[in-house]
Amino acid sequence: MTSNPNSLAARDVASLIHPYTNLEKHKEAGPTIIAQGDGVYVHDDSGKRYLEGMAGLWSTSLGFSEKRLVEAAVRQMEKLPTYHIFNGRSTEPSIELAEALLKIAPKSLSKVLFANSGSEANDQAAKLVWFYNNALGRPEKKRIIGRHRGYHGITVFSGSLTGLAHNHVDWDLPMGPVLRTDCPSHYLYGEPGETEAQFTDRLVKNLEDLILREGPETIGAFIAEPVNGAGGVIVPPKDYFPRIQAVLRKYEILMIADEVICGFGRTGQMFGCDTFGIEPDIMTVAKALSSAYLPISATLISAPIAEAITAHAGKLGNFAHGFTYAGHPVSSAVALETLKIYEERDIIGHVAEVSAHFQAKLRSFLDHPLVGEARGVGLIGALQLVTDKASRTVLPAAAGIGALIQNAAMEKGLIVRASPDAVYFCPPLIITRAQVDELFAVVAEVLDIGLAEAQRQGLVGAGRQAAE
Ligand SMILES: Cc1ncc(COP(=O)(O)O)c(C=O)c1O
Repeated sequence: MTSNPNSLAARDVASLIHPYTNLEKHKEAGPTIIAQGDGVYVHDDSGKRYLEGMAGLWSTSLGFSEKRLVEAAVRQMEKLPTYHIFNGRSTEPSIELAEALLKIAPKSLSKVLFANSGSEANDQAAKLVWFYNNALGRPEKKRIIGRHRGYHGITVFSGSLTGLAHNHVDWDLPMGPVLRTDCPSHYLYGEPGETEAQFTDRLVKNLEDLILREGPETIGAFIAEPVNGAGGVIVPPKDYFPRIQAVLRKYEILMIADEVICGFGRTGQMFGCDTFGIEPDIMTVAKALSSAYLPISATLISAPIAEAITAHAGKLGNFAHGFTYAGHPVSSAVALETLKIYEERDIIGHVAEVSAHFQAKLRSFLDHPLVGEARGVGLIGALQLVTDKASRTVLPAAAGIGALIQNAAMEKGLIVRASPDAVYFCPPLIITRAQVDELFAVVAEVLDIGLAEAQRQGLVGAGRQAAE
């Protein structure tokens, strides 16, 4: 990093705490300052261009220069830059957005409660489960089942629903009424010789056993992402969700679908619920709701929940919940324009077309020595990195190969996300076939860099033999 204390980089290090960053290392490494956006590309402050293979944080569906969204924000800013929807006040954009959402949402859903982030949408989903069960006179039915490797956000309770150790260790989480069940990755958690169908049977049985052991009368809901994002882009077996949901229904446990990443076309249909046969009682959306141009999220609920909480609020004299910026008119106007663009440009049709190419390209890496599994659906995917394909032994975190691959990609003008043992892809939904080729051409180069390092460390192939 430059030694000039007036540089943006030095000022960054002196002033900012960065989310999800090794803060100690950041003092030396400094920031990558993104200065401009252009379609699926972003440019740093030195002018270097990157293909944004993660759509920012799995979010910028329409790319980084959609003028219509800018104009929608300006129009609304000029008319009514801010207002709230507390105490029965309302605004036209928030009403229109709620209607537009319900038009495309799964039929089981009938009302919309706005918030500002994915974490807040999941947090208030949990609160609604509690309020609903109090309304029904079931004060015990409060626990929520999350899954290992699920990601639902980072607030005290959404962070507790999240099933990732690094979000809990030394953060004093999980906190509150949370139970945990299996992650549905057959590749990672299937037992030797177990078929995908047997694996699903086992997970369904484990869930039912957990419910019976803990007492169905104590469990209010189950929360899941249709495809786990941050926990590893885990695509569940085909009949996993319908089977899980049958168990939940048997014990009157609500299904919360966290569509914060999957919503609005990511999996090839409007919602992950459509792709995976989920009929949610509650659904949360954020990110691509506004192409991430402004913060906005929503929790959609079924008619029985809406009716029960309405009656209960009537009894108490208030629905005492809400965020100042929930249903913000400018965010709502931008989200509404985003939904219009999805429809007018048939973004779902585009995803259906380009994703066939994207998924084929992804799977073409299966013969790479470092790749154990290529998984994905629609325009989301991952390559699982292994030291041994037969035993499915994943790369050890200490090898640092995920980070090496991510940094090498960045040097070559591609932004992807890597965990220690996988590389993730989630490009803007507007990506073209040629840009998919451009993305994976860099992936081919950086996988080879990762392989050379794995060999040098004696983890795979030639290196391993040499080390033996
Ligand atoms: C599936 C899922 N749910 C919830 C969240 C939390 O959203 P936010 O970061 O807007 O709070 C995320 C964020 O990545 C997510 O991927």
